[in-house]
Amino acid sequence: MIKIRVPATTANLGPGFDCLGLALKLYLKLEIEEIEKGLVIEYQGEGAEKFSAKKKEDTLIWKSTELVLKKIGQDKSKKGLKIRVLNEIPITRGLGSSASAIIGGIVGAAKFYDIDLTNQEMLKLALSLEGHMDNIVPALIGGLTLAYKTSREEIKWTRIKTPLDLRVVVAIPDFTLSTGEMRKALPQKIALSEAVFNLSRSALLVNALQNSDWDVLAEAMEDRLHQPYRTPFIPGIEDMFLKIKKTGLAGVALSGSGPSVISLTKVGSEEAISKIMKDTFLNAGIICRVLVLEADLDGTKLIAYSV
Ligand code: HSE
Repeated sequence: MIKIRVPATTANLGPGFDCLGLALKLYLKLEIEEIEKGLVIEYQGEGAEKFSAKKKEDTLIWKSTELVLKKIGQDKSKKGLKIRVLNEIPITRGLGSSASAIIGGIVGAAKFYDIDLTNQEMLKLALSLEGHMDNIVPALIGGLTLAYKTSREEIKWTRIKTPLDLRVVVAIPDFTLSTGEMRKALPQKIALSEAVFNLSRSALLVNALQNSDWDVLAEAMEDRLHQPYRTPFIPGIEDMFLKIKKTGLAGVALSGSGPSVISLTKVGSEEAISKIMKDTFLNAGIICRVLVLEADLDGTKLIAYSV
């Protein structure tokens, strides 16, 4: 039996559209063991009802496990597998639940069958299935990552240092938005001035986090590539952004394609920010949960193993 945990992730962080992502201490845990035959997947936690109603073979966890089995040529019908899923990551809210499921299936199968796959190979498998590298990379590697593709379509990444006293306040509204739909809301072309705006903010954000330069976070997390087209789908969010920025305590952005919102701040300010988030959503008629999380620096990790 093996047990692994995969962190949730928040992508974009404002200006780093499709390339910056941060792993969070909120987890998808998978326990995998061999059974006589067949496939059993049991769910607990976030999305358990939805996933239990799905055909097992159609779940991302199984599809990604199967990718590894196919790669090693193992005939899955010879042995059965039981996967127990304990999920803390809210689904379809912009916290990378799909990426965590995919990485979980791949790493889980690789660890279970003791197959040596490099991070590069695992990321390639993951991206062949679905998902975005700005979630996939931090879910596997942990921390704040900048993911990019080379001109030969090879996935590469670099890890950016984050301050230990960084806190991520996450407001999770009680409605869902699909990333696919939210991508359709984006324009195909953008003005050069908007591109320059984002280039400057994303470089500023990386520099601010590396140097614990808290004062510039509010400006550093501004974006003009995707948020202006997505915020109309989320009541109260414009007001929330303004109020949080006005405190001068934090930066704020959509988490991935939303509807969750993240605010990056220094430990000590999290309560003030949480209150603004809750109150503003409530004023707009939206019920939300607010979590205060830390960055996960481990990425996907084996947490138990027994023969
Ligand atoms: N970067 C993606 C987007 C979402 O904003 O559409 C998460 O991978």
